[in-house]
Amino acid sequence: MASVMLSGTEKLTLRTLTGNGLGFTASDFHGKAFPRVSFVTTSSARIPNSRSMVVPKCSVSASRPTSQPRFIQHKKEAFWFYRFLSIVYDHVINPGHWTEDMRDEALEPADLSSRDMLVVDVGGGTGFTTLGIVKHVNAKNVTILDQSPHQLAKAKQKEPLKECKIIEGDAEDLPFRTDYADRYVSAGSIEYWPDPQRGIKEAYRVLKLGGKACLIGPVYPTFWLSRFFADVWMLFPKEEEYIDWFQKAGFKDVQLKRIGPKWYRGVRRHGLIMGCSVTGVKPASGDSPLQLGPKEEDVEKPVNPFVFLMRFLLGALAATWFVLVPIYMWLKDQIVPKGQPI
Ligand SMILES: C[S@@+](CC[C@H](N)C(=O)[O-])C[C@H]1O[C@@H](n2cnc3c(N)ncnc32)[C@H](O)[C@@H]1O
Repeated sequence: MASVMLSGTEKLTLRTLTGNGLGFTASDFHGKAFPRVSFVTTSSARIPNSRSMVVPKCSVSASRPTSQPRFIQHKKEAFWFYRFLSIVYDHVINPGHWTEDMRDEALEPADLSSRDMLVVDVGGGTGFTTLGIVKHVNAKNVTILDQSPHQLAKAKQKEPLKECKIIEGDAEDLPFRTDYADRYVSAGSIEYWPDPQRGIKEAYRVLKLGGKACLIGPVYPTFWLSRFFADVWMLFPKEEEYIDWFQKAGFKDVQLKRIGPKWYRGVRRHGLIMGCSVTGVKPASGDSPLQLGPKEEDVEKPVNPFVFLMRFLLGALAATWFVLVPIYMWLKDQIVPKGQPI
């Protein structure tokens, strides 16, 4: 299967985190477990114990360019999507895609090492990831930001988040001053950003010198049908796209850790709504060196209600495929003997 994924290639240096006792080989792309891997570009090749390999740049065919947003990759569509999804989000979506185990694994590279750290959780929604953050950081130091008041209303009901600051806002235009936070966390939100590079540039701006961004998000499927539905629904970036966005924003020590539900046994061909945790460190104070033009989406601009409704319905329909995939994988996990690939 790995060979199917290998068409375009980019040379990256891959560091195996042997400290955790989990090695990684190319055959592990669909292996038994999600390996702890980190990719760093060859320019950071000072890392000991590193070896070069060729990692997949593209799947069989190229994905839609990020500059052509999918049906629910606009702020207005995401707003309405979560108007309804917020009702069941914690109970229906997370158990299939974003478990507490995965969350804690994904937050580990964020190095939430002091209770006094100032943390922003961008696209924090119902506060599921924030519940993982406040295990390590005092809740009063944590700000949850989201564009959906409906999602935030759920976060406000959670007792451990009572002391968090909870605010409405846009990931691409954060209401925090430059050099404000020690940690920037965003989980499962980038897929709705019409301009992900802008959101990551904002992550850089709001962090203090030496601060760390931890962005958790989906990975692009390699199976043709999943790829089709992914491209209709929302943004599923490729691993190297995340790394590229982080590096262009100015981050150093950019690393990517693969995550996924246990019952997938490492399978990534259908893509994963929560497929990786990408981290980077801000090396200098001030704004990102990256210059960008105007925003991709002008939320003030009127939209044709019929076109909007059609996009919304088609996007939501495509999303149901990704509700079925974890059920299919769970059944396979029950049927196929343990230790065998599924
Ligand atoms: C899949 S939920 C993730 C929520 C939460 N981080 C978690 O881990 O469960 C995605 C969230 O991103 C929010 N979102 C989407 N686009 C956004 C934007 N441009 N600015 C802020 N929040 C956004 C949505 O409203 C939604 O609450």
